[in-house]
Formats: sequence, C-alpha cells, structure tokens
Amino acid sequence: MLKESDDNVTLWGGRFDSLPDEILWRYTVDTSDRRLLLDDIDGSLAHAAMLGSANIIPAAEAAVLGDGLARLREEAANGRFEWQCSDEDVHTAVERRLTELVGSVAGKLHTGRSRNDQVALDTRLYLRRNATERRNDIIRFVDGLLDKVEGVGEIVVPSYTHLQQAQAVPLAHHLLAHAWMLVRDLDRFAAVEVRLSESPLGAGAAGGSSLPLNPATTAAELNMQSVFANSMDAVASRDLLSEYVFCCAQTMVHLSRLATEAILWATAEFGWATFSDALTSGSSALPHKQNPDIAELVRGRAAAVIGDATAVLTLQKGLPLAYNRDFQEDKRIVFHADDTLAASLEALGAMIGAADFHPPPPSGWIGALDLAEVLASRGVPFREAHHVVGRVVMTLIADGRTLAEADIDDLVVIDERFIADDLDVLDPITSVARRLSPGGGSHVSVQGQLERLREAIS
Ligand code: ARG
Repeated sequence: MLKESDDNVTLWGGRFDSLPDEILWRYTVDTSDRRLLLDDIDGSLAHAAMLGSANIIPAAEAAVLGDGLARLREEAANGRFEWQCSDEDVHTAVERRLTELVGSVAGKLHTGRSRNDQVALDTRLYLRRNATERRNDIIRFVDGLLDKVEGVGEIVVPSYTHLQQAQAVPLAHHLLAHAWMLVRDLDRFAAVEVRLSESPLGAGAAGGSSLPLNPATTAAELNMQSVFANSMDAVASRDLLSEYVFCCAQTMVHLSRLATEAILWATAEFGWATFSDALTSGSSALPHKQNPDIAELVRGRAAAVIGDATAVLTLQKGLPLAYNRDFQEDKRIVFHADDTLAASLEALGAMIGAADFHPPPPSGWIGALDLAEVLASRGVPFREAHHVVGRVVMTLIADGRTLAEADIDDLVVIDERFIADDLDVLDPITSVARRLSPGGGSHVSVQGQLERLREAIS
C-alpha cells in the first residue's frame, strides 16, 4: 500500500493533505492497462521529441527524456519493467520510472499533455496493432478452411432450411459460405484499423493547451494517418472501441455458427464429420464419448463477447463530455473481446482443419425442386409445377417410398408432361451438375469462389 515515504506518489498530490485511503486505491487503481506499456512509452517518446522540436522545453532536456524513455522501453520490451503498487495506472508507472532514471526533468514529460489524451492514444495504438493481428488470424483461419474445401473434392451434401433437407449442394459450397462471412469480417477490421489511425495526442485534458503543441508532428512520428480536429471529441469519444468490439462480436458470431454446425456434424444422427482425438475431449462418465468441446466453448464464449459489445456501448451512453473515469473500464472490455476472438480463431481453426468429412448421401427427397424446375423449363408456371411435384410427393409418402425410388409411372400418373429422362435429376450428383445459376451450389461455382477467396486473403 501507499506509505508516507511515497511523498510524490500520485500525479495529483499537491491539492490533497492526506495520502489516498487504501479503499480508494483498491477500488480505483487499474492494472489491466499494463498491456499498454509499450504504446504508452511510444506515445511519450513522440511527445517528448515534439516538446523539444517545438521549443516548449529545451532540446537538451527533450534529449534526456528521449534517452530515458528509450532505456525504459528496453526494460519494458524485455519484460524487466517493475510495477509498483503505488502505480495508479500505466501512465503513472511510466512517469515514475522515468523519474528514477533521469531525475526531476521527467516532470517535464507531461507538459501540454493529460492522461486523457494519453490513454485515448495508447488504446488506439494498441487496437490498431491488434486489428492487424486479428486480420492475420482470420486470414490463417480462412486459408485453412480453403485447404479443407479443396480436400473434400466433389462430395455432395444436403443444404438445409429450417434444418430440413433442402437442395443438394457440394460440401465445398457449404464450407465456403462460412469463408465469405469471415472475409467480410476481415474487411470490417481493416476499416476500423484506418479510423483508429487518427491521433488524439495534443488534445490535453479537454480543451487543448496554451503551449505551442504540434499534434501533427507526434501523429507523424507514431505513423498515424490523421490528427483530431476537436480536442473534446478526441478525449471523450469511444466509438472506435465500440466498432472494434463489434468486429470481434460479429466474427465470434460467425465462428459460433460454424461451431454449432461442427457440433451437429459430429453427432451420430448427422454423421458428417469426425474430429481429431487430439482436439476433442472425453467424458468422465461415458467411455464412448468424443466431445467437440472447442466448438461448444467458442459458441459459449461468443455470448460474453456479445456482452462486451453491449457493455462498451452502455459505458458511453450516459456520459457527459469530455473525459470521465468510467472510461477506465473500456480497456478490460476490448481486451476481453479481442483476446477471446484470437483464442477462438486459433482453436476452432485447428479443429476444423483436422476434421475428416464423410457425410451420408442426401435423403431421397432432395431432388423435389429439381423435378419442379424440369417442368418449369418446359413452360409450366412454377406454381403449377410445385403443386404437381407436391402431389407426387404425397402419393409416394402414402406408398412408403421416396422420390429417389419413384419410376416414370409415378410421375406420369400425376402429370403427363413428365418423360422418363426427368428421373435423372433426382440423383443428387446430377442435380448439382445441372445447377448452373451464378453463385449457386455447383462445382463450377465452387472453383470460381475458391479463386476469389484466395485473392481476398492474399
Ligand atoms: N487510467 C485512466 C483511464 O484508463 C487514465 C486516465 C485518467 N484520467 C483522469 N483524468 N483521471 O482512463
């Protein structure tokens, strides 16, 4: 805890005649921001250099700050930075350590700066870098999925609507639907990454500074694309964090839907896929079980990330401008969402990558629409063709047979426009081969999609 000897322990002790109570300290100190350490140092390096180049502090002192911060960065990068319980947050810790390294001149680092613009900057730098990492994770995931797609060849499965068998499609087409969703997530992360590249440094506490700060210099130094236009917006807005968490939540939702399917595929009832022993869990009670725990936990953890999206929005909704300490909580939320997504992409990617697909053929009803389309192609209004096939289906059900078991008499007795060759379309392989509408479930379409998706992640 804080000791009387920690004379200058807070950044704000001057106005207070006592040390902070232990209760205040315990409740208000944040350690979750420690992972912003390198970003905080980088922001400080840029700020110190700007203070020198703008002649706000003597160049020699700016150089001393720069050297001290460089040493500090070295310590931090090598995991040698030592935190103290008197560090109120990451910003305080950096200034405290800099003081130990270079003495009282460290007190000049905070000239023209506030922790309010500092924390806004640190978070943006951190998330900008992590957006790149998450994009790489998604690319790796999609890449693995595309390899899987190539591996499953021309296996045909039923597509489902209402979880009832609908039309025959290549299994590859089904898997690629998931890839397209993830590629849009990739684009969303890229877009937020660009917006995160606006530097808030130089906004100060809320209203800027009377000192001749040059925010453009620090922004350029930090490789940020643009500079804030309004200091209050710069320190009070957290919409980019909302966007980032939404990107995580939407990607988690996409993974969760894939996870749900993986769980179904592995059931005895579906029997579509077997997952590797090394990536599934056993049951403590039921010796025969092989459980898809990774998929279930991805689905379960998606719930918490959706919660993060709600939390980060709710955190902002009632806050007056500009900075409020409530914002301290935003980091825990974005870190949780981001960490969960990173881990989920890795785990589910491994599980799907090691899947062995062996789906049973579609049911004997899968060609019903194909049969109706045969009549439609001969000029029969689709509504009428639908009704005719419905009648065929009804008769076959009554007879305990499926469409696949029908012969030409079963069709002609309902409608004389059927001919013997029409039965061919009831074969799922033929059904897929005849399906040539753009983007539809055919092998030709799959080849085109594979090319486009390889391009999208290249
Ligand atoms: N730890 C604080 C946060 O995360 C840093 C900013 C503190 N600013 C302040 N005026 N107390 O938001």
